[in-house]
Formats: sequence, structure tokens, C-alpha cells
Amino acid sequence: MKVARLTLSDRASAGIYEDRSGPEIERVFGEAQAGAVEWLRIVMPDERAEIEALLKRLADEDGCDLVLTTGGTGPSARDVTPEATRAVLERELPGFGEIMRVQSFPKVPTAILSRSTAGTRGRTLIVNLPGNPKAIGECLPLLIPAIMECLRHLHGEG
Ligand code: MTE
Repeated sequence: MKVARLTLSDRASAGIYEDRSGPEIERVFGEAQAGAVEWLRIVMPDERAEIEALLKRLADEDGCDLVLTTGGTGPSARDVTPEATRAVLERELPGFGEIMRVQSFPKVPTAILSRSTAGTRGRTLIVNLPGNPKAIGECLPLLIPAIMECLRHLHGEG
């Protein structure tokens, strides 16, 4: 399985702080499913046009099965991940964002500030996760069964 993990953060991409969310995606995903994964690891600033171009390339040229983004989902002016994602999706899967917010809210009342979404482009599933490294462990395990089932459907096995 080819999976891109994409950290969207002005400060992490400028080296102001270390990207802890990207490595956390790898750790949590690896623990939750047994298959072999080829990882593409990317850190980039919150620039909508660049994010859109990269998401298109990862889906259309690099043939990623799955793109997991982290960061840029909140209400700040520089948070553009959901807009960039929606612009490249062919089919939105709003349930991914909905379940992250619903399940996180009792523990983390600020979870509803995340506008994360998900969906498909060709045979690639794109899922937004919040930027807090702790949020990866809180959200990603919930999504794994639906992610794996979605990939089976995209490969015509569903
Ligand atoms: N969801 C979980 N599970 N845990 C968190 O710590 N942080 C919230 C929210 N979702 C959080 C969470 C906060 S404070 C914000 S602002 C939004 O995610 C958006 O974060 P982002 O812009 O880094 O993606």
C-alpha cells in the first residue's frame, strides 16, 4: 500500500518547530493495520494552491492509495486544508470528519473547531486529520476499518 502523510503547517515547514504529527500518523497507522506500507513523507506550508497541486499529483501521478493530511483544518485564516481537499475531491465522504468530531468532543471540547473532511479522487482516498499530534491517536484508529474498506471498494474488490 502506498500512503502519503502530509503535514500542513507554516511553522513546521519553516523549521520553527519539529513535525511530530507526521511521524505519529506512521506510528498509529502501523499499529492499527498489519499490511506493508510504502510511505511518502511531506511537510509543507498552508498554501492552498500548492496543497491542491500536491494532492492532485499524489493521486494522479504517484498512484497513492491513501493520503493522510494533518493540520490546517481549524478556523484560522491560514487554515485551508479542507478547502484545498474539497477542490480536488471527486466524491466527498463527510462521515470521516463527522465521526472524528463526535467521538473527540466528550474528551476534547475544542474538537468541533476542526473542519476536516475526506473523499476520493480516482483510486485515492484523502483524509484530513487535525494538526495536534495527540489528535492523531484520538482520531486515526477510529477511521481504520472504513479506510481499509474504502480502499477495497476503490480497487474494485468491494
Ligand atoms: N481533535 C482531537 N481529537 N484532539 C485535539 O486536540 N484539537 C482541536 C481540533 N480537533 C483537537 C481536535 C483544535 S484546538 C483545533 S483548532 C482543530 O482541531 C483544528 O486543528 P488544526 O488547524 O491543527 O487542524
